[in-house]
Amino acid sequence: MLERIGHMLVRKANQEEHRPVFDEAGDIPQHIAVIMDGNGRWAKKRNLARIVGHRSGMQTVKEIVKAADGIGVKTMTMYAFSTENWKRPRDEVDYLMKLPQEFLSTELEELNERNVRVRMLGNSDRLPSHTIEAMNIAEERTRQNTGLQLNFALNYGGRTEIVKAVTELARQVQAGELKPEEIDEALLAQHLYTRDLPDPDLLIRTSGEIRLSNFMLWQMAYTELWFTDVLWPDFTKEHFFEAIAEYQGRARRYGAV
Ligand code: IPE
Ligand code: IPE
Ligand code: MG
Repeated sequence: MLERIGHMLVRKANQEEHRPVFDEAGDIPQHIAVIMDGNGRWAKKRNLARIVGHRSGMQTVKEIVKAADGIGVKTMTMYAFSTENWKRPRDEVDYLMKLPQEFLSTELEELNERNVRVRMLGNSDRLPSHTIEAMNIAEERTRQNTGLQLNFALNYGGRTEIVKAVTELARQVQAGELKPEEIDEALLAQHLYTRDLPDPDLLIRTSGEIRLSNFMLWQMAYTELWFTDVLWPDFTKEHFFEAIAEYQGRARRYGAV
């Protein structure tokens, strides 16, 4: 018991000093993809509307992006809305489409000051114009920034993304600009939303679901996967550092020995 109390005190002291549990001099994942899940359940547990959970989840985005930036992560890709999320009630979809504006209206200046580059990954066709406009402003404002690359996957679907790439290549073949035998992995990857980004090193998914839900299917061929039961609004930088610590203990073999 004494030991337990001692341990807890040590942990608390560490948290207050923001001392990470991972090796700061070790291998920091360069690109972290995040499936921010569990906002609805977080709200339900409190008898609140689902959208309150989404609003609370937005605070988590701020904290985690700051933490990632602080430890030198180069790219964060946050799954904000999937091509399947249109199946949700109209009110909820409407609210989720307002979140980028809400987030950026309070955060864009600070992100810009921190040299963060914001980008949207996904199909903008079906998005409301106010959502597209908010993302465009953020992309334009931060285009020259060379720090953390912060991607929001919005109306993103891994399968749709691959189909889009295949369609573009098929058109080039049809036009006689490309031979089928010239198509390789690198060329296909050039037609994905992530064309100029490295594949994710680490995927974090919250809320206890152990699946990919159509996120970055091509890019995650060799990504390390990390799952936690913590709901996204409850997820803290300490959880984030825990994921990185576990990542640092993994052996990435890429099929070799
Ligand atoms: C994740 O939380 C946010 C989005 C999918 C936009 P959910 O809304 O999926 O929360 P749960 O899974 O219902 O708890
Ligand atoms: C994945 O979460 C999409 C986002 C986090 C944006 P979902 O809640 O939509 O996934 P499923 O339906 O549980 O697979
Ligand atoms: Mg969910």
